[in-house]
Amino acid sequence: MCGIVAYLGHREAYPILINGLRRLEYRGYDSAGVALINGHDLRIFKCKGKVSDLEAHVQDGNVKGTVGIGHTRWATHGPPNDVNAHPHQGNSGDLALIHNGIIENYAPLKEELIHRGHSFKSDTDTEVLVHLIEDIQFTEKVDLAEAVRLALDSVVGAYAIVVIDRKEPDVMVAARKSSPLVIGIGEQGEHFLASDATPIVEHTKNVVYLEDGEIAVIDRQKGLKIRNIKNQDKTPFIQELEMHLEALEKGGYEHFMLKEIHEQPRSIRDSLRGRMDLINSEVVLGGIRDHEQKFQNAKRILILGCGTSWHAGLVGEYLFEDLARIPVEVEYASEFRYRNPIVGEEDIVIAISQSGETADTLAAIELAKSRGATIIGICNVVGSSIARVTHAGSYTHAGPEIGVASTKAFTAQVTVLTLMALMIGRRKGTISASNFHRLINELDAIPDKVQKVLQSEAQIKYIADIYKDAPNALYLGRGYSFPVALEGALKLKEISYIHAEGYPAAEMKHGPIALIDEAMPVFVVATKGASYEKVVSNIQEVKARKGKIIAIVTEGDTVVKELADHVIEIPETPDQLVPLLSVIPFQLISYHIAVMLGRNVDQPRNLAKSVTVE
Ligand code: AGP
Ligand code: GLU
Repeated sequence: MCGIVAYLGHREAYPILINGLRRLEYRGYDSAGVALINGHDLRIFKCKGKVSDLEAHVQDGNVKGTVGIGHTRWATHGPPNDVNAHPHQGNSGDLALIHNGIIENYAPLKEELIHRGHSFKSDTDTEVLVHLIEDIQFTEKVDLAEAVRLALDSVVGAYAIVVIDRKEPDVMVAARKSSPLVIGIGEQGEHFLASDATPIVEHTKNVVYLEDGEIAVIDRQKGLKIRNIKNQDKTPFIQELEMHLEALEKGGYEHFMLKEIHEQPRSIRDSLRGRMDLINSEVVLGGIRDHEQKFQNAKRILILGCGTSWHAGLVGEYLFEDLARIPVEVEYASEFRYRNPIVGEEDIVIAISQSGETADTLAAIELAKSRGATIIGICNVVGSSIARVTHAGSYTHAGPEIGVASTKAFTAQVTVLTLMALMIGRRKGTISASNFHRLINELDAIPDKVQKVLQSEAQIKYIADIYKDAPNALYLGRGYSFPVALEGALKLKEISYIHAEGYPAAEMKHGPIALIDEAMPVFVVATKGASYEKVVSNIQEVKARKGKIIAIVTEGDTVVKELADHVIEIPETPDQLVPLLSVIPFQLISYHIAVMLGRNVDQPRNLAKSVTVE
């Protein structure tokens, strides 16, 4: 949920930390802070607000030092304010610690430490950790690395931490459990630490992904050592980053979200790349090859996710039941993990997560795995925690998604789910060869069709201007387009702060129709397909109550054009692939309304990109 960054090397640390925090700010921006060691002098600068507020706070401060840590916070314990900002210190002032996660047993630990004479300044769970480490250093007379190891042995919860100590100015100690931590290994002994690779990629492509329960000790002379909580050494596995710096910049767009909406022809193409053979009429998903048979014979598929990923899972339900004739249940990961669900060895579980770090999804996976289910991941971040705890999976290859509102990740997730359903359906024989061939060719044509939909942006912006002041909005869709209605409503809510609800179009009559009046824009997916006539009737019902209709229709539609206040045309495509096109106008409408309302589109209030805490 928050972003952590650290540096130890021959250069001044501060500029590296600040730039790194800017790249991580999408993970949380309640407060920010840095700590630097220069000689044996440890200085901390921290304040409520964004990284830019921290820079103003630092102003002409003494930010010298070639070892430092930085943090941008998304609060879980203690309100966003200066005192609760990280880094945190113990009583001696020797240590500084930053943390991503939740120390679940912080209360009893804090009570014990107070009893042992420690005094606390903040309301956070994190501060307990640095006092605990300090207490162990003192009582056990051990160095920082050993004190961290002993401290973490009594901690329950999730953490990615980095700790520095002015008594050991040439050492940084890091550790992780459930929250992500990447180590960059640079030239001339430079080492970088961060929550993900975005602050590291401009310095080095050589990275080590710290695993759960591991502790990294970085020493200016000895370099990187990794050990586990049981003090067993582990040889670092160095990988080469595939990410490129330009992918992290806005590329001329005003916001990351707009850039990522427009990247979708490419990101969908990248998600398809190497996975469809149009000549031999085949779908090949290497990442799940070893589990194909089990997938094929599954009596049930469980799909787990949160937010937009859950919406993608709903599209997956229609796809697997329609194309592979396998019963599917789609579950909110947060609900699944606590309701003692019925899940076992005969189940295939698909876990969907853009960040690969969502705490609820991770926990739900662990539960399903503990009961013997086979877990297939669909993640966007390579090497992420979820990607590494699943038995197999297929990456979405959408590239870094920086905007908090998920866009290209959604269409990439739906693309991978479509490939999976087609592949399994073909192997089971529930799709005819001709229908399979037709669908994979239609899927291959989707990136160009998405490009065509994006050309309607000016018209969509015009519509956004008309409805930007609406207090509420209703999104309707049937069949494959019902999850798109939910996704459209979520986009509007999370970036414009306008209340919106997605509903199955037919359900509107069972209550929500009471909301319809001339102030209520109703966004409807009314494309040609199985339920087209029914949706037209629903549009009539809204019109009869003076509701305003903005309809997404198939190119050339004349019927809905007569009824709706506005129509946005999308190219013809089979029902199964409509979500990949119909979601685009909803993404753009939400984006432009939010911009017109002056919202912080890439970092909406109260939100963060990756919810790595409960
Ligand atoms: C979507 O726009 C939101 N940012 C949010 O609902 C998100 O989809 C959810 O938190 C799940 O994130 P994940 O895909 O990284 O697991
Ligand atoms: N639990 C810590 C706090 O509230 C860290 C939160 C986070 O990971 O953003 O400060």
